[in-house]
Amino acid sequence: MRNRFPILSRLTYLNSCSHGALSIDVREAYEQYLRDWEELGSPWELWDEKTEEARAAFAELVGAAATDVAVTTSLSAGVSGLASGLRFDGPRTKIVLSDVEFPTVGQIWHAQEARGARIVHTSDFESEIDEETLLVSLTHVSYRTGERLPVEEIARLAHERGALVFLDAYQSAGTIPLDIGALDVDFLAAGTVKYLLGSAGLAFFYARRSLVESIRPTTTGWFADQDVFAMDDRDYSPAPTAARFQSGTPPVPSLYAGLAGLRLVLEAGVERTSARIAELTQVLVDGTSRRVVTPEQRGALVCVEVDDPASVVERLQKQGVVTSWRDRSVRFSFHFYNDESDVEAALAALETV
Ligand SMILES: Cc1ncc(COP(=O)(O)O)c(C=O)c1O
Repeated sequence: MRNRFPILSRLTYLNSCSHGALSIDVREAYEQYLRDWEELGSPWELWDEKTEEARAAFAELVGAAATDVAVTTSLSAGVSGLASGLRFDGPRTKIVLSDVEFPTVGQIWHAQEARGARIVHTSDFESEIDEETLLVSLTHVSYRTGERLPVEEIARLAHERGALVFLDAYQSAGTIPLDIGALDVDFLAAGTVKYLLGSAGLAFFYARRSLVESIRPTTTGWFADQDVFAMDDRDYSPAPTAARFQSGTPPVPSLYAGLAGLRLVLEAGVERTSARIAELTQVLVDGTSRRVVTPEQRGALVCVEVDDPASVVERLQKQGVVTSWRDRSVRFSFHFYNDESDVEAALAALETV
């Protein structure tokens, strides 16, 4: 598998939390897209099949049925669809967010303030989730601290109190097994830029079947319609499935790339990947003399505190170690294509820097 990622022969790549490494499979998928376009002209049937293949692969990833998954162009697109379909004119107007959300999620919920929503950021879910709470919005693994939230526990609490739960699984999808039944969240989204090993432009949004028809998104488009090719501009009849959270034309090039990336992820196996990553992150945590910001409950990302992270990341890059930074931490993130030699290279470079 390591040989399928050419960058690994030149660099120590520990930045999958920002962007997954390019595989020869994904490069070939993009080339296939260009060949299909050039040779076939406008093979929309084929591209429609690709959308359905992607839907099925995302569904497999989270243990859901394909009809419960929308194929979107970003995580934001799915969450915006959801937010647009919620109503804030009843007794429940409160959205409770974790205090380590990715900006796009916080921004989308805050945008709903104009529609009557009240947004609360917290780490104390026990106190904040109440009879006014409409939805609890959680990130699975924080992009800025690496901490992994106890999703099942918070979801149970939310449901006991009558609130819905959305999970942003962008920083966990591909590295932590996602089982929608066990997680018991109502909505979940992620995309292919990071550990799903595709590139920008493709994401998905899962919605619990029993809720779908009660939510009518007002952020929408023709690919959300119950009959896309009816071409009816006089009516809004959203699909009875999760496809109602879609919008316009599917991201055709990104479908090719995303499918190739997803196949690698599924071939490697998320359980095995997760176990391997746990070993590698532990070697890093044990090996550094610096303060590790990420708690023990973590995913594939370990944040290590330094005084001047921007400069440290730049100097690590000069030594061939690719990382990124947030707040006062350098972010080291792992995938199945990393090994102990990467951890050793990173630790040695960090020490020198
Ligand atoms: C946790 C998390 N959520 C969301 C996103 C991005 O979402 P979108 O696909 O809307 O750009 C990222 C990517 O950086 C992320 O790390």
